Amino acid sequence: MKLLTILAIASAVAVSSAAFASEELAKKDGCVVCHDASAKKIGPTWKAIAAKLKGNKDAEKIITETLAKGSKGVYGPIPMPPQPKAAADAPALAKWILSH
Ligand code: HEC
Repeated sequence: MKLLTILAIASAVAVSSAAFASEELAKKDGCVVCHDASAKKIGPTWKAIAAKLKGNKDAEKIITETLAKGSKGVYGPIPMPPQPKAAADAPALAKWILSH
């Protein structure tokens, strides 16, 4: 019983530090210039993207492709340029965006 409690706390800490790490990635890769969790900037909010892709089994692939190739016409007239420097962070960023 005690062990289970410790395991539960340990995994909760691991989950929240992973979320924190991805927030840092979004800052490092410059995503936050155009995106925010809930405030509309140049790009759609993380919440809007997560809501749109929720339940789509290709969601992570769509996000990875957006980072590699950019995107236009999905949310409005402003295009997103490709983000080649974020390629290595794409899987972590995708999971983090979808958790909003
Ligand atoms: C120069 C501004 C800008 C930067 C920097 C930027 N984005 Fe975007 N992003 C946009 C815009 C504008 C759109 C909407 C494009 C559209 O309508 O198709 C968008 C759309 C997206 C989408 C939704 C794609 C889809 O097809 O559903 C994702 C995911 C995304 N951005 C992630 C990121 C991540 C992660 C980063 C950082 C590595 C980033 N963006 C950096 C402007 C930007």
